[in-house]
Amino acid sequence: MSIVKINALTVPAEQREVLEKRFASRAGTVDSSDGFEWFELLRPVEGTDQYLVYTRWRDEESFKAWMEGPMKQAHQGGGEGGERPRPAASGSTVWSFEVVQQTGPKTAQDD
Ligand code: HEM
Repeated sequence: MSIVKINALTVPAEQREVLEKRFASRAGTVDSSDGFEWFELLRPVEGTDQYLVYTRWRDEESFKAWMEGPMKQAHQGGGEGGERPRPAASGSTVWSFEVVQQTGPKTAQDD
C-alpha cells in the first residue's frame, strides 16, 4: 500500500494569501515524479490553524527521490534567480503515514 507524507504548515493570518498564491503557481515538478500519487493543499477551516500539504506516494523510495531532487526546485518560491522570498510559513512539520485501508466512491463497474 501507499504512504502519505503531510507537511503541516504554520501560517500567520496575514501570510495566508501569499502562501495560497505561491501554491497556485507551484512548480508542478511533483506531478510527474515517479511514484507520485496525489497532492492536496488543505486550508484550515475548523479545529486547527495549520495548512496541510497532503502528498501520497507509491513507496518511501519515491518520496525520498523527490525530496533529494525536484523538491528543491519546487521550493524556490517561484522567483527567477535572485533572493529566495521570505517563506510564507513560519513553521513546518512533516508527518509520515502508511495507508492501511482505502476506498473511493462506488462506480457502476463495481456492481
Ligand atoms: C521546509 C518546510 C516547507 C515549507 C515552509 C514549504 C512550503 C511550501 C510552499 C510555500 C510551496 C509553494 C511553492 C513555493 O513557494 O516554493 C511549496 C510547494 C510544495 N511543497 Fe512544500 N514546504 C516545505 C517542505 C515540504 C515537504 C517536506 C514536503 C513533502 C511532504 C512538501 C510538499 C510540497 C509539495 C508537493 C509542493 C508542490 C510542489 C510542486 O508542485 O512540484 N513541502 N511548499
